[in-house]
Amino acid sequence: MNKKRVLSGVQPTGNLHLGNYLGAIRNWVESQEEYDNFFCVVDLHAITVPHDPTTLAEDTYTIAALYLACGISLEYSTIFVQSQISAHCELAWLLNCITPLNWLERMIQFKEKAIKQGENVSVGLLDYPVLMAADILLYEADLVPVGEDQKQHLELTRDLVVRFNDKFATPEAPVLKMPNPLIREEGARIMSITDGTKKMSKSDPSDWSRINLLDSPELIEKKIKKAKTDPIKGLWFDDPERPECDNLLTLYRILSQKSKTEVINECQDMGWGQFKPLLIETIIETLRPIQSKYYSIRAEQTYLDNILKQGATKASTVANQTLTKVKNALGYLPS
Ligand code: TYM
Repeated sequence: MNKKRVLSGVQPTGNLHLGNYLGAIRNWVESQEEYDNFFCVVDLHAITVPHDPTTLAEDTYTIAALYLACGISLEYSTIFVQSQISAHCELAWLLNCITPLNWLERMIQFKEKAIKQGENVSVGLLDYPVLMAADILLYEADLVPVGEDQKQHLELTRDLVVRFNDKFATPEAPVLKMPNPLIREEGARIMSITDGTKKMSKSDPSDWSRINLLDSPELIEKKIKKAKTDPIKGLWFDDPERPECDNLLTLYRILSQKSKTEVINECQDMGWGQFKPLLIETIIETLRPIQSKYYSIRAEQTYLDNILKQGATKASTVANQTLTKVKNALGYLPS
C-alpha cells in the first residue's frame, strides 16, 4: 500500500525557536516513517515582509540544516528549497485567479502582520496563503503537520480545492487533492516566555521572548531566569489567570516527556526558584544533541548542497506533474 503524503515547511526568517520545534518539526520527525514526506524551506514566503538579501541564503541553509539536525531522515523525507521549484509561483498565480479577494482579507495572520507593516503592506503578504496552498497542492499532500496558527490557512487551501474542482473538474476525477491539517494538541501553541498571552514568534522584536534552537546554554539560562512569572505559590496547569505558569510547565512536560500527572506530582509545591533550574537543564539537554549535529552539518557545505539539489530534483518531478494537470484542466495549450 502506498504511504500517505506529508508536506510542511518553515520560513527562513532567522532562527527556529521552541514553538517551531514543538508545534511542527518534532511532529514531522516522530511520524516520518509512516509517511512519504516533503519538507521545504519556504523562502518565497520569507520575502512577504521586508527582508535582508544578505542573510536570506544563509538563513535558508540554517533551516535546512536544522531539519536534519532535529532528526529528519532522508530515508523517509525529501528536503528542498521552495524558490528552486518554479511550479510554486506558477500554481500560486493560477490559484490567485480563482481566489476571491475577501477570502484573503479576512485571514487573521494577514491582519496581524499588516498592522505591523503600516503603509508598506505588500500584495505578497495578502497573497501568502495562496502560495501556501500551492505548496501543499503541488505535492498532493494528504496531511499537513503544522502549529495551531496555520489552521485558517489550511482551511483556505481546502476551500480552494473545492472551488477549483467544482469549476474545472468532475467529482469522479478531481484535479486537486484535498489535504488535511495535522495539528497535535500538545505543543501546537507555545507562548512567549515574556508574555504568556502572546504566541512565541520569530517576528517578536525581543529575542528574550523566545528560546531559539541554537541559543547557547548560557543564553538559555539567562532567558529562562528572566522569563515572566507570578508571585503565586505552587505551580499548576490550565489556569487562565496564570498563562506564564501554564506555558513554562507545558514546556517542561513536553521536553521531559512526562505526563501531566507526573509533572503535577513533581512540581506542585515548587516555587519558581526551584522550578526554573529544572526547566533550564531540560531545555539545554534537549537542544544539546540538535546543536552538535547542526554544527557538524554546517561544517560540510557540499553535503548540504547535494541534499538540497537531490531534493529539488525529486520535488520538481512531483510538482510539475500536478502543475501540468492543473494547466490542462484550465484549458492551456500543452507546453
Ligand atoms: P512559520 O515559519 O511561521 O512556522 C513554522 C511552523 O511552526 C509553527 N509555529 C508554532 N507552533 C507552536 N507554537 C508556536 N508559538 C509556533 N510558532 C510557529 C507554525 O504553525 C508552522 O507549522 N505559513 C507557514 C509556512 C508554510 C507552510 C507551507 C506550512 C508555507 N507553506 C505549506 C505548511 C505547508 C508558517 O507560518 O511558517
